[in-house]
Amino acid sequence: MLILAIESSCDETSVAVVRDGREVLSNVVASQIEIHKLYGGVVPEIASRAHTEALSGCTSEALEKAEVTLDDIDAIAVTNCPGLIGALLTGLSFAKGLAYSAKKPLIPVHHIRGHVAANYLAFPELKPPFNALVVSGGHTSILGVDSYTDYRTIGYTRDDAAGEALDKAARVLGMPYPGGAAMDKMALEGDKTKIKFSVSHVDGAPYDFSFSGLKTSVINHVHTLEMKNIELSDDVKKDIAASFMSALVKTVTTRIEVLLENEKRPLVLAGGVAASKNLRMGLEEICKKYGVELYLPPLKYCGDNAAMIGAQAYYEYQNGNVADLDLNAFATAAADKLPK
Ligand code: KG4
Ligand code: ZN
Repeated sequence: MLILAIESSCDETSVAVVRDGREVLSNVVASQIEIHKLYGGVVPEIASRAHTEALSGCTSEALEKAEVTLDDIDAIAVTNCPGLIGALLTGLSFAKGLAYSAKKPLIPVHHIRGHVAANYLAFPELKPPFNALVVSGGHTSILGVDSYTDYRTIGYTRDDAAGEALDKAARVLGMPYPGGAAMDKMALEGDKTKIKFSVSHVDGAPYDFSFSGLKTSVINHVHTLEMKNIELSDDVKKDIAASFMSALVKTVTTRIEVLLENEKRPLVLAGGVAASKNLRMGLEEICKKYGVELYLPPLKYCGDNAAMIGAQAYYEYQNGNVADLDLNAFATAAADKLPK
């Protein structure tokens, strides 16, 4: 089955052609980072406009690269939740138009389920059940993936996502948006014991996360240095980055350690922050200690892309999840309960 998939939930316009949920024939990603960099973060209105401009060209390119025509496509898949509502609506409207005019079924896909499915593209042997750790710019959660379409929320963030804290920490250190990757790299060169950023806990909820305290701590730390006229030299920045990343990784690994104490399912990492070397190393250590298999997605499928949406769409379709043209977009939606 050939699926044409469309992703436009944040600041990447992406269109892909995927065969049987596992084989990527094309995956075109048009990033808007250069536009949003000017503002230090994603500007929703600008994102919507840029998606509208890019969708048609990305679709032609995805078909061309896959060496297929729209006639060869069996279904159109689209991310309809969660994300920036205007951005989601551009992709959804475009997908509806395509599905209607080409008379193809329309498959709605939850963005987070897509991030998890990115791993199916790299690991042919990977099948549920497993647990997934999703760490991205907008989401941080631990999910029980009981089947391809049965999700259970084990833990979620009560405030900011890990990537949000990471990007704001990077911004206060003067790195351009989104600074996650630069921060991660810098952290490898610093001394992580220099500053004691605390690791948060949520009372009575061992799997839930909180990153807003860590975000505020790093911002306050930098402002205090500035007030004391202490120069933010490269060495100072490296130590802040290393100490910050160490606290962020520990926040995640302490939860995973509790999980692995109780359940020995394989662990699948997903989301933009899955590209973090520091996080990968932390998880490798824990999973090795507990003898649990760890799946780390290839870097090209960590960030937002449509191939991962095409992968999940195949299994949604098998499960009968096909939408009518009145399908809506939703800014928020839990991965275990698809909105209607
Ligand atoms: O999944 P994603 O592309 O978008 C959302 O769905 O949110 O995640 C974007 C996040 C940003 O916070 C970005 O800074 C972070 O992923 N990121 C990284 C790396 N590459 C991207 N964080 C740490 N290390 C990286 N190499
Ligand atoms: Zn994402």
